[in-house]
Amino acid sequence: MKRKVLGVLLSVAMVATLVAGCGSSSSSTTSTDTAADTEETTTDDAAAADTADESADTAAAGGKIGISMPTQSLERWNRDGAYLDEQFQAAGYETVLTYSDNDSARQVNDIQNMLADGVDLLIVAAIDGEALNTAMNEAADAGVPVIAYDRLILNDAVSYYVSFDNYSVGTLQGQFIVDTLDLENAGDKVYNMEITAGDPADNNAPYFYQGAMDVLQPYIDAGTLNVVSGQTDFDTVATAQWSTDTALERAQNILSSYYADGTQLDVWLCSNDSTALGVSQAVTSDYAGSNTVLITGQDGDEANLKNIVDGIQTMTVYKNVSNESVVTLGLAQAILNGDTIDESLIPSFGIECSYDVESYETSEGNPCPSFLLVPNVITKDNLQDLVDTGLYTMGEDGYLSAVQ
Ligand code: BGC
Repeated sequence: MKRKVLGVLLSVAMVATLVAGCGSSSSSTTSTDTAADTEETTTDDAAAADTADESADTAAAGGKIGISMPTQSLERWNRDGAYLDEQFQAAGYETVLTYSDNDSARQVNDIQNMLADGVDLLIVAAIDGEALNTAMNEAADAGVPVIAYDRLILNDAVSYYVSFDNYSVGTLQGQFIVDTLDLENAGDKVYNMEITAGDPADNNAPYFYQGAMDVLQPYIDAGTLNVVSGQTDFDTVATAQWSTDTALERAQNILSSYYADGTQLDVWLCSNDSTALGVSQAVTSDYAGSNTVLITGQDGDEANLKNIVDGIQTMTVYKNVSNESVVTLGLAQAILNGDTIDESLIPSFGIECSYDVESYETSEGNPCPSFLLVPNVITKDNLQDLVDTGLYTMGEDGYLSAVQ
C-alpha cells in the first residue's frame, strides 16, 4: 500500500523531470578552497599530502573515494560533504568532493570525472534520482560500487543506500501536529492547515509527505483539520529544489487568497527547514492573525533553530548527518574489503540504525539494501540535545550555531 502510493507519486515526478529537461552542462572548477558560495570541486588528497610518495601510500592503503553532493546552497549538504570528506580521510582514503549546484547535468559530469580519475567507490547524494543513468551505467561498467547517500538513485548500478528512515520523518511531523493540537480530543473544533512539501525530483520528498499525510489524513477526513486552500496533493504542494524563495512565494499567495479575510491559520506542515524558512517569512510578514502558527521542519538548520528559539517555527526533525557519514564510512570499508553486508555490520558502526531490504527499490522488483538511521524531534524544550551531540554550541543569546 505504502509502496504503491509512492510509486504513483514517483512516476508523476518522473514526467515532471522529463518535461523540465536537464539544462545545459557546465563543468566544475577544481580548487582547494571549500568555503565559497560558488559550487566547487575539492580535490583533497589525504589532507593535501605533503609528498607524492605519502599520497601514493595513502591511496594504496585505502583507495580513492568520490563524494558527489547536490549543492552548497542548502545548509545540510555542506555539513554532509565536510563530515564525509574528513572521516574518509581520517580512515586513510583519498577523497574527491564535488558540489553540483543543483544541476543534474553537472552532477553527471562530476561523477564521470571521478570515474576517469580512478575512484574505487562512489558516494552520491542525487539532485534528481532519475537523471543519473549515464553516470551510473558507466560506474557499473567500470565495476565501481555506488552508495546512494541520503537520496535514493533509481538505477540498479546502486549497490546500497544509506539514509534516515524518510517515511518516519513525515510520521514524526504528522504525529507532532496531532499531539500538540490534541486532535484526538478536538471535539467539534476545526483547525486550519496548509501543506508545503519538497522537491519532486528528490526520491525522499514523497516519503516525507506520505509519512505525514498518513497520520493527518484521518483528521482531514473527519473535518478536524481543514486545508483551506484545498491544496493537498503532492504535485500541488511540492517545492522545486526545496527552494526557500519558492516556498515563500507560494505561502504568500495562499495567505492573500485564503486568509486575508481574517480566517485563522493554525498549522503549516513543511517537509523541511529550507521550505519552513520561506513559509515562516510569509507568515511573519503576510498573515493577518495574531495566533502562533504551528510550523514543522526538518534538519536543524541554524536559521530554523533560531526561529524555534524565537517561537516562529515550532519543531524540526533532526537528522545527525555526522552519524550518517559514520555509517557510510563503515559500509564503504566493508564493501571494499569484500565483507558480507547485512545487519551484522550494524554493531561495528556504533550508530543506531536498521538494515532494510524491503522499503526501497532502484527499479521495480529490485530492492536496494538500505541502512536507515533514526530521526528525532527537536523543539525549544530539548535544544540541549543538539548541544549534547557536540555538533552545536549555544551562545549567550540562547541561539545555536553549528560547529564548523
Ligand atoms: C534531505 C533533507 C533535506 C532536503 C533538502 C532531502 O533529500 O533528506 O534532509 O532537507 O533534501 O536539502
